[in-house]
Amino acid sequence: MLLGVNIDHIAVLREARKINDPDPLDALFLAIKAGADQITIHLREDRRHINEYDVERIIKHSNIPVNVECSVDPDIIEIIAELKPHRVTFVPEKREEVTTEGGLNFNDINYANLDKAVHFLKAREIETSFFIDPTKEAVRSAKGIGVEWIELHTGTYTNIFAMLNSNLSYTPHSIKELEVERSRLKKMLAKSLNSLEEAANSAEEYGLKIAAGHGLNYQNVSEICKIELIEELNIGQSIIARSIFSGFEDAVKEMVKLVK
Ligand code: PXP
Repeated sequence: MLLGVNIDHIAVLREARKINDPDPLDALFLAIKAGADQITIHLREDRRHINEYDVERIIKHSNIPVNVECSVDPDIIEIIAELKPHRVTFVPEKREEVTTEGGLNFNDINYANLDKAVHFLKAREIETSFFIDPTKEAVRSAKGIGVEWIELHTGTYTNIFAMLNSNLSYTPHSIKELEVERSRLKKMLAKSLNSLEEAANSAEEYGLKIAAGHGLNYQNVSEICKIELIEELNIGQSIIARSIFSGFEDAVKEMVKLVK
């Protein structure tokens, strides 16, 4: 399995001071050294972390694929297309969210725009991917639009895992709707893994390449690695969190070891 390292949070720290330190470009070089297979960054409409100057320099200096996440906003797509990353992953984007909360909702967004965006990028030889919830319906919709990749949102699985296996439920960030009996949580965990597996199976039947990500960490990643049809994981928060204590290079190396 391949590891894409999401380095948005390096820019989150920089933006806390609005200076030029730490520089996500330094993270690129260390991630490569540590064995990462891909770098993932999200150019948000509000530029709350990564900006186009970062995207430009990261693409220019990277010898591994760069995967840029973005919304279907035509201006953002045009900026990214000019910079020619390896892949663009379309994600839903809300100003008020802390992180990407779910997959693309094909009933909500402008279908015609998405279709246009995918063809615009394909014509420029840029791979395309949709970040989707692990359902057969979402996989079918993605296939209908013609992307090469899907990325399955692992957030439901990782939230349940955290409520079962960490101290999250005792903290102010406990997930209220998951404050249920442990036996029920265990069943929910199995069901969430099953959904990921079934979505991966239908994606494989449609000939789509399969990535997954969101909330994956050093404890919960092994169950996802067992789903052999998933080719690639994109992981950010947990790697950056560990790097505060053990250094970024070691944190990436440790995750590479688990994912391989
Ligand atoms: N994949 C996608 C499409 C994402 O939007 C994110 C979050 O930015 C990730 C992977 C990484 O998630 P995390 O930071 O929770 O590892």
